[in-house]
Amino acid sequence: MRHLSLAAPLIVSAPLLLSALLLLAACEPAPPRSEPVTLVFKHARILGPSDPLPGLVREFEARHPGVRVKSESLPWNTDEQHQFYVINLEGGSPAFDVMMLDVIWVPEFAQARWLLDLTELLPRAELAAHFPAAVEPATWGGRVWAMPWIMNVGLLYYRADLLARYGLRPPETYEALVAQVKRIQAAEGDARLDGFLWQGKQYEGLIVNLLEGLWANGTRLLGEDGRLFPDPARAEEVLGFLRRLIDTGVSPPWVTAADEELSRRAFGDGRAIFLRNWPYAMDLFELPESRVRGKVGIAPLPRHAHGARGSGATGGAHLGVDRRTRHPEAAVALVRFLAGAAAQKTMAAGVALNPTRTALYRDADLVRSHPSLPLIGALTAAARPRPVTPYYLMLSSTLQPEVSAVLVKVKTPAEAIAQARRTVGYMLRDVR
Ligand code: GLC
Repeated sequence: MRHLSLAAPLIVSAPLLLSALLLLAACEPAPPRSEPVTLVFKHARILGPSDPLPGLVREFEARHPGVRVKSESLPWNTDEQHQFYVINLEGGSPAFDVMMLDVIWVPEFAQARWLLDLTELLPRAELAAHFPAAVEPATWGGRVWAMPWIMNVGLLYYRADLLARYGLRPPETYEALVAQVKRIQAAEGDARLDGFLWQGKQYEGLIVNLLEGLWANGTRLLGEDGRLFPDPARAEEVLGFLRRLIDTGVSPPWVTAADEELSRRAFGDGRAIFLRNWPYAMDLFELPESRVRGKVGIAPLPRHAHGARGSGATGGAHLGVDRRTRHPEAAVALVRFLAGAAAQKTMAAGVALNPTRTALYRDADLVRSHPSLPLIGALTAAARPRPVTPYYLMLSSTLQPEVSAVLVKVKTPAEAIAQARRTVGYMLRDVR
């Protein structure tokens, strides 16, 4: 504005005015050095009845005058987020400062040198407050690259009202789950009542379901030597079981296109007996307008014949800082604020985005508003992480079409397993 008001005399005697201005600038005290800092915070769209992030961000800004946070949301599908980050981080200058990261990406991003090393910036004691299963995937090569933020664990949801009607308890084995579905479906005589919903679409969620199946059958994805499917016979049983669920009508054919939200909505509409999903679904089932309010229970995932017990996979999100940020201090402050106890409590209270801080699972207010929290905490403590390796996404994207081909009967389990082993063996031939 000042320039504009001086524009008229400029026409009269420009050189004179210019020297006057220069003189003025020299006498003027230097403008305050710290320009307002704007942090760009990229995160997944928050699923759930409300979004606590805008409120938390405003609170952070109020505590850090001079720092503004622009939060920008990405689609909630993890593979789409990964694609976005890889494209943007591979090229050019940083487009964002703080990133919400799926737990499975941290070693990959650290190895690619996209993340700021937080080892010296986060006090050890701060990390000790979180589930070890959340800290482990935030750590790579002995350094800490991200801060645990949201904890996820695979759970079995069941219709407590329907099971009670037939005197049944939540199934401990998949065999029992199938038997219960058949019994309830036959007795209810409702053609629209599906049995067991899970995530069978070709994406990361499918690999989570596969891993949980492998663990439930006493085997795993990677052997000690890093080889894929160390026990192919047990892996074949798991793939065969998933396919049979569809063949026998225990799961509807559309599970081959189902992600977390599609399966959660169908169960929430009262159209299924069992559902595998993450904890966020419970809050949605308990909304006043929900058709299944008060009718849903949570149990550990069942086991297969060769497994000692079922375990959910851990999942969730970390917060990382772009290594090329121009504002590392402010970015780390935002990360520590959002992952702090107060912010995690706000998130857990609002949308059941569960905390990575173990003490919050015993917090009186949270337990009152979310009675299943202690059970979810116990199931999280017993859960297992997906392989922590920079090659996880490569493994997953190789496996996804193979598993999908089994579900839609294009390949047999044995063919898919053999093909995945060959492809992964070839891709990792130099890193073993
Ligand atoms: C959830 C989990 C994440 C997982 C994804 C799979 O977002 O938090 O860890 O990779 O689901 O769909």
